[in-house]
Amino acid sequence: MKIGFFGFGCVGQGLYDILTKTNFNAEVIKICVKNKEKQRSIPSEIFTFDKWEILNNPSIDLVVEMIDDAKEAYQIVKYALQNGKNVVTANKKMLAENLVEFLEIQEKFGTALLYEASACGSIPIIRNLEEYYDNELLGNVQGIFNGSSNYILSKIFQEKMPYETALAQAQALGFAESNPILDVGGFDAKYKLCIITAHAYGLCIAPNEVFNYGIQNFSEYDLKFAQEKNLKIKLIASVGKISENEISLSVMPQFIHPKHELYYVENEYNGVIVEAGFSDKQIFVGKGAGGHPTGSAVLSDISAISYQYKYEYKKRQKRLPLRYVKHQILEIYVRYHQDEDLKGLDFQEISEKYEGRESKYLIGTISLENLFQLQNVLPERNIFIVNTGRKVIQNLFQLAQTEKQNLATA
Ligand SMILES: NC(=O)c1ccc[n+]([C@@H]2O[C@H](COP(=O)([O-])OP(=O)(O)OC[C@H]3O[C@@H](n4cnc5c(N)ncnc54)[C@H](OP(=O)(O)O)[C@@H]3O)[C@@H](O)[C@H]2O)c1
Repeated sequence: MKIGFFGFGCVGQGLYDILTKTNFNAEVIKICVKNKEKQRSIPSEIFTFDKWEILNNPSIDLVVEMIDDAKEAYQIVKYALQNGKNVVTANKKMLAENLVEFLEIQEKFGTALLYEASACGSIPIIRNLEEYYDNELLGNVQGIFNGSSNYILSKIFQEKMPYETALAQAQALGFAESNPILDVGGFDAKYKLCIITAHAYGLCIAPNEVFNYGIQNFSEYDLKFAQEKNLKIKLIASVGKISENEISLSVMPQFIHPKHELYYVENEYNGVIVEAGFSDKQIFVGKGAGGHPTGSAVLSDISAISYQYKYEYKKRQKRLPLRYVKHQILEIYVRYHQDEDLKGLDFQEISEKYEGRESKYLIGTISLENLFQLQNVLPERNIFIVNTGRKVIQNLFQLAQTEKQNLATA
């Protein structure tokens, strides 16, 4: 195989190192990077700053895209696929935002796009959903999808490290995206969730249609609240069935109790729980970030390309009668200081309320749709929201109301 690399950062260098240490039969012909001043760890002849040296090189049959610029990555991947080159990428933002288009391009031009590294680093979840669970009745797929948020929360809970120090450490170790809000704001986990949903349920859902709320407003008060109850807080991405023909998606912090499978998944590790009708519960745990773990998933895709593997998007082909909805009811904890910061939060029921000198909190039930409507303003308020993780049984009246609304929108 003759490969052209785009990017020689954390993942690019990790992959290059892996290729030199394994017997995989592939040759890296060129590596396209951006910064002409940067010192490189390998001889300079292999580098180029001109993307066309790879894209228009007929001897290169595989493009491996590992840059941190989603817009440029989109142009590179699209051109390569349209011009007969297979592509492996790790760029979840670019994928999640353009999945439908890439599906069509692959079909039209007969090329393949693989992206196992884009979701949960070294955990082989995409190919498993595609191949292993192709006929399973999936109840839900949920977990810790973002290594740097998990690293930060682990350091806070285990070592009482200040948030900013933990974030700086995650960045120094190469776990964080160049723009940290993508990680701590829950965007990175959301992109991965959208990709996973396409392979779990066959629905390509635009990321801006999915609720994400991150950990950036986490405070010492929330830490105290959780620890007093022997709970941890993890950033959980979740997609699952809420009725026979409806699925719901969200990314938000969640209280995790010691018996939960994700309680001991710490630092840059990711954990994915797949609940299915016949296989029951299965748990995948592995490193979700870092050069070598991510590079190993990229290598696995390169190897799969060498034996002509392509995603068939099997669930999509089956055209399951599924709809994406947001009327799911959640129970949430909200820590706040001023009542006006609760504006627009339309609780169905409040089960607990506490007002202290330091802070106030309440626990109540609310619809995901309501949170979604406020998703741009919530991070700007002096509040922190955590899903309690408790299942809310909607009463018959609420169910009837929801059904009426569904019929009206249909
Ligand atoms: N880091 C992880 O653990 C991880 C895990 C899973 C997925 N990913 C994904 O993998 C991709 C790369 O992440 P990373 O952590 O390796 O990023 P990184 O360390 O910041 O490296 C980015 C690389 O992209 C190059 N680059 C940026 N814009 C370019 C352009 N227009 N043309 C050519 N090269 C360009 C940079 O060139 P210079 O060297 O010249 O600056 C650099 O080599 C991202 O999409 C990320 O989301 C990362």
